[in-house]
Amino acid sequence: MKRFLICTVLSLTALPALAKFLPPAHSKNGMVVSADATATKVGVDILKQGGNAIDAAVAVGYALAVTHPCCGNIGGGGFMTLHLADGKNVFIDFRETAPAAATPAIYKVKGNVDSSKLLHGYLGVGVPGTVMGLNTALKRYGSLPLKTVMQPAIDLARNGHIVDKSESQLYAKAATLLQQDKHANATFFKHGKAVRTGTRLQQPQLANTLQLISKKGSGAFYRGPIAKAIVKAIQTNGGIMTMQDFANYSVKVRKPLQCDYHGNTVVTAPPPGSGVTVCEILKIVEPYPLKQLGFHSAASSHYTLEAERFAFYDRNQGLGDPAFVDNPIKQLLSKTHIKTIQQRIKKNAITSSQSLLAKPATTREKMQTTHYTVIDKNRNVVSTTVTLNGFFGAKVMAGDTGILLNNELDDFAIDTSTPNQFGLIQGKANIIAGNKRPLSSMSPTIILNKNGDALLAVGAAGGSTIITSIVQTIENNLDYGMNINAAVNMPRYHMQWLPDTVFMEPYAFSQDTQTALGKLGYKKLQLGFFGKQPTWGQVAAISQHDGILYGANDNRRPDGLALGD
Ligand code: DON
Repeated sequence: MKRFLICTVLSLTALPALAKFLPPAHSKNGMVVSADATATKVGVDILKQGGNAIDAAVAVGYALAVTHPCCGNIGGGGFMTLHLADGKNVFIDFRETAPAAATPAIYKVKGNVDSSKLLHGYLGVGVPGTVMGLNTALKRYGSLPLKTVMQPAIDLARNGHIVDKSESQLYAKAATLLQQDKHANATFFKHGKAVRTGTRLQQPQLANTLQLISKKGSGAFYRGPIAKAIVKAIQTNGGIMTMQDFANYSVKVRKPLQCDYHGNTVVTAPPPGSGVTVCEILKIVEPYPLKQLGFHSAASSHYTLEAERFAFYDRNQGLGDPAFVDNPIKQLLSKTHIKTIQQRIKKNAITSSQSLLAKPATTREKMQTTHYTVIDKNRNVVSTTVTLNGFFGAKVMAGDTGILLNNELDDFAIDTSTPNQFGLIQGKANIIAGNKRPLSSMSPTIILNKNGDALLAVGAAGGSTIITSIVQTIENNLDYGMNINAAVNMPRYHMQWLPDTVFMEPYAFSQDTQTALGKLGYKKLQLGFFGKQPTWGQVAAISQHDGILYGANDNRRPDGLALGD
C-alpha cells in the first residue's frame, strides 16, 4: 500500500515517468487478472491446458468462491460481458432475484425502512445466480468439461488454501456478525480468533457442495439437495425463500449495451446492470479536451463530476429490471439528451444536485464484490463481476453447505426516499417486488477499436463507485494515455448525484485543485467514501496494444494478481 501511495504522489507530477514505476504484466498469449493470486493462477493453468478464456473465467469464478470468501461466491450473483473470437458480443445476467413473496412492507417497521432486515440475516437474501451463470457461460462458450474447470476449486476447498494478510484481516473485521453464525464461525475462526495469515484454511463442506455441482450440474443447486439446504436454513431463520423460487430462477443471456466513445465501441452491461450510466458519462465528457485540460485538474475533473451527477440522477430515477420496467436507454443515450446535459453544464459553476431533485443521502456499511478479467490467445475476452453485496453478504452460511449467502435485496429501493447502503436514493423503477432483479452498479465492460479488436477489458467492485471507477480507468487509459497499471491505480474521485458531495481518494486532488473546485461551487469534498474507507473499489483490467496484452491488478487489493499465460 505504501508503495502505491508513493507511486501516486509521484505520478501526479511525473506522468511520463509512470510506466517505469508501474510496468503492467504482459503476454502475447493470454492474461488473467483477479483480486486473488491463487484464483488468477487457477485461470492461467486452465489457459495453459488449452482452455479458452471462458473456461478460465469459470474456473476463476469457482476458485474465488473458495479463496476469496468475502466477495467471490456461489451464494450470490453477477454479470459476464463477453467478446468472442468470432466477433460476437454477449452479456450473461446471473443477477439474483427477489423471492416471490418479497414486498416493501416486509422491510419496514412502523412505516420506516429497517435496513437491518435487508443487510443481515436471511430476509435480505436473493435467489443466487452464480452457479447457473457460470455453468451457462461454460456450456455455451467454453471448451472444457465442468468437472475440469471446477476441480481446482474443489481441491482448494478440500485441501485448503493459505490465508493471506488482507483475507485474515477481513474475517477479523467482520467477526462480530460472522461469529454469530455457527457455520461461519466454525469455518473462519479458530478458538474464537480469525484464521491467521499463513495458515491453511480448509472448507470441507464447501468442497462437498462444489463436488456435487461438478457431478450433477446446476440441477443439484436449483432443484436438488443444495436448494433444499439453503431454503431450510432460510425458512428456519425467518426468511421467505422457497423451493419454487429456486426452480423459477433463470439466467438471462442478453444483448450487451453498446455505445461509441471516440470512435471505439464500448460493450457493456444493459439493465439491470449500469453500463448505460458508464456510457452516458462517457458520451457527456466525450467532446471536452480532458488531456489538454490536465489530469485531475479542476477543469477536467469538473466535466467528469458533472457528467457523473447527471448520469447518476438518470440511473437512480429511471432504471430497473427490464422484466418489470421499460428502461429509457435510447432516450438517455440519445444525441438530444446528451446535448441538453452538455448545454446545462457550465464551464465555471456546478449544477446543484438539489436542482435535479433534493434529499441528502448517507451510507451505512461496508461492501464486497469482485471483478476479474480474462483474455486468451485467440482473443476471446471475458469481463466478469460477481457480488455478495455486503462484506461476506448476509454474514450467514446456509446450513452445512459451506455457502455464504448474499444480501443483494438491499440493492432495491424499498421506498423512494431512503438511501441504501451505498447512499443511493432510487426511484420506482427499482422498488422491490417478487421475482424482480435489483438494479446493480456492476458494469463489466469491453472496449473494441474500429477493427473490432479488444483495446481494453475492465470492470470493478465497489458499490456505486463501480461506475465511476470504470469511467475513470477508461479516461486514464484512452484519454490521458496512461499504461493500464497506472490507469487502474491512480487515485479516483466519485459523485453520485446525491449526496451533493465529491468523494476523493487520498491524492486525488491537490490542495490547489480542491480550492479551485470549491470556487466552481463544489461545497463538500470528502476524503474517502462517506468518510469511511480512504480508498474504494477494485478494478481488474487488461489492455491490448500491437497484439500484446497488458494486465493490471488494483493495488487497493494487494492479494490480487495480473498474470500472463
Ligand atoms: O450490484 C451492486 O451494485 C452491488 N451489490 C455491488 C456491491 C459491491 O460492489 C460491493 N463491493 N465492493
